[in-house]
Amino acid sequence: MKAEIVHMTAENIDKESLKRAGRILQEGGLVAFPTETVYGLGGNALDFKASKKIYAAKGRPSDNPLIVHIADMESLPKIVKELPPKAKILAEKFWPGPLTMILPKSDAVPLETTGGLNTVAVRFPSDPIAQSLIRYAGGYVAAPSANTSGRPSPTLAEHVEEDLGDAIDMIIDGGQVGIGLESTIVDFTEDVPVVLRPGYISLEMLREVLGEVRMDKGLLKTDSKIHPKAPGMKYRHYAPKAELSIVEGESGEVVAAINRLAKEAKAKGETVGIIATDETAEQYTAGLVKSIGKREEEETIAHHLYEVLREFDKYQVSAIYSEAFYTPRMGQAIMNRLLKAAGHKIIKAQEENEK
Ligand code: TXA
Ligand code: MG
Repeated sequence: MKAEIVHMTAENIDKESLKRAGRILQEGGLVAFPTETVYGLGGNALDFKASKKIYAAKGRPSDNPLIVHIADMESLPKIVKELPPKAKILAEKFWPGPLTMILPKSDAVPLETTGGLNTVAVRFPSDPIAQSLIRYAGGYVAAPSANTSGRPSPTLAEHVEEDLGDAIDMIIDGGQVGIGLESTIVDFTEDVPVVLRPGYISLEMLREVLGEVRMDKGLLKTDSKIHPKAPGMKYRHYAPKAELSIVEGESGEVVAAINRLAKEAKAKGETVGIIATDETAEQYTAGLVKSIGKREEEETIAHHLYEVLREFDKYQVSAIYSEAFYTPRMGQAIMNRLLKAAGHKIIKAQEENEK
């Protein structure tokens, strides 16, 4: 099966195609679609067979639950047992938008969709194409990121086609997504809300609205025995085919260290890629240098991260060195993804230069 690809923009929605896509979902098929974060692989969330198909298409372990996407607040009561007051506050503040909430599930949601858990992840995306598709599909669309399990999430329809073009019914190409990293996940099953996955909505933004909010301990201590609470966060993920190392430290030190490491790797026959920024790109002397964005505009870094990782795969690069991006607002989310892509391989620039 080859997926049918339809093109549209948020400003110029092709209603007829979306109606057809909605019908495909209602009949148990799979449709990939744009959201403001990354492309999603949609199936009817209330149909356990559709959820099984999603796992099969992605090659995803079946204990890793899916997010249920809705397109209005009125749809929420059917799929959750209750909406805790703090979750209601967040919904009012950040929905529609890049926020996913973990809530107690109702019987309407099959265990296949939630990976066997009695909670359900819910998100109300702001992307108009996504909203319209969800409505035509009957209101409840389960959608993980539309990549093969383990690969970087798709920020362009071409990425979806690369990974899933032969495994699904339709791809809605709405152009490049806005944010480029997956939604922030907040768990409401304990007294204090816990961030299970950092995203565009930062811990500080959540604390401003709710007061106390914790970061999942499993995300902070990467080398300990504490596992992240979101099943998906424990897998190696977002990984390019090449060996990726993050080099951190003061900017001049980082450039010097990467230049040396790149030269050494090249001498050993490696094809080297370097993830730089507009501020530093010209200072690198070896390898294929790609600027990911501007440090001064951290959104640009988040926006291009997955795209750059995929581009290096195309060039068959075998070793990638990346600068670290501990930027003020989105740094937590960017570094969470980059560290996972690198299997937590960090090189301290200063130590490297003293060798
Ligand atoms: O931005 C996004 O959230 C994108 C777009 C398509 O909406 N979706 C997305 O889905 O990133 P996915 O499946 O790639 O990631 C979902 C994450 C996984 O880490 C999963 O383990 C976690 O959410 N999750 C889902 N349901 C959960 C639950 N009931 N309890 C804990 N974690 C859950
Ligand atoms: Mg994913």
